Amino acid sequence: KLLTISLLSAAVAAGSAQASDDNTVRIGVDVPYVPMEYRTPDGELTGFDIELGNALCEQAKLQCSWVEQGWDGIIPGLLARRYDAIMSSMTINDERRQQVLFSDPYIVPPSAWFVPDDSSITGTSQQDMEGANIGVQRGTVQDSYVTDNYGDVANIQRYASADDVAVDMDTGRLDAAFLDYPTGEAALVDEGNYKTIGEMLTEPKEYFGEGFGIAFRQRDEALADKFNQALETLRDNGTYDQLHDKYFGG
Ligand code: ARG
Repeated sequence: KLLTISLLSAAVAAGSAQASDDNTVRIGVDVPYVPMEYRTPDGELTGFDIELGNALCEQAKLQCSWVEQGWDGIIPGLLARRYDAIMSSMTINDERRQQVLFSDPYIVPPSAWFVPDDSSITGTSQQDMEGANIGVQRGTVQDSYVTDNYGDVANIQRYASADDVAVDMDTGRLDAAFLDYPTGEAALVDEGNYKTIGEMLTEPKEYFGEGFGIAFRQRDEALADKFNQALETLRDNGTYDQLHDKYFGG
């Protein structure tokens, strides 16, 4: 009986290690999320996450491929083994830690409020946001934050993608957007007549956590270790800084 049980758990362990056994790793990502993951006009997948992810794989001697997945189903897709990791600007926080294992943070951007340049909204208090149409990407930490803090006073509009938030800012259907700062900056400020208002938020930690991490299934500690070690190497040898400068300036 004991033998059966240990054979069984060996089989289970082998199954969970499968992804890394043959050195191939499939990485789930929700595209587009400028400047982190998007396609160039000729269709090439690029962005900070993509380039850093590819560099990490090369460093760790892993064969990586990217699998596109809408944000809504991105953790379920990992757990269902559609892919072996998620690298999609995912904020590390305790709530998600109950479902996935995170790498060390690879970048720590704040969240921020965005409004049109000529907006009558001048602050970010509940009073300032009273009656406003606020856009967020559904299922993000920004969604949780505005739902909990402005849900009673404002109209929260939840979109499948951050790009759709930008589209409805342009149409005027939204008065404000609450997004990861780099994405709001690239999708709104760099593209049109928008500005940030209020403070950049990295707190409360229960929402905004500890920065962006690569997510793995809980059992894939060995795989997470490979990525953590590769990240350390790329930080030490200047590759990380080079990429960071390319996307976010010096
Ligand atoms: N950082 C936010 C979160 O983890 C939003 C990330 C959305 N990423 C994406 N590729 N759409 O909830």
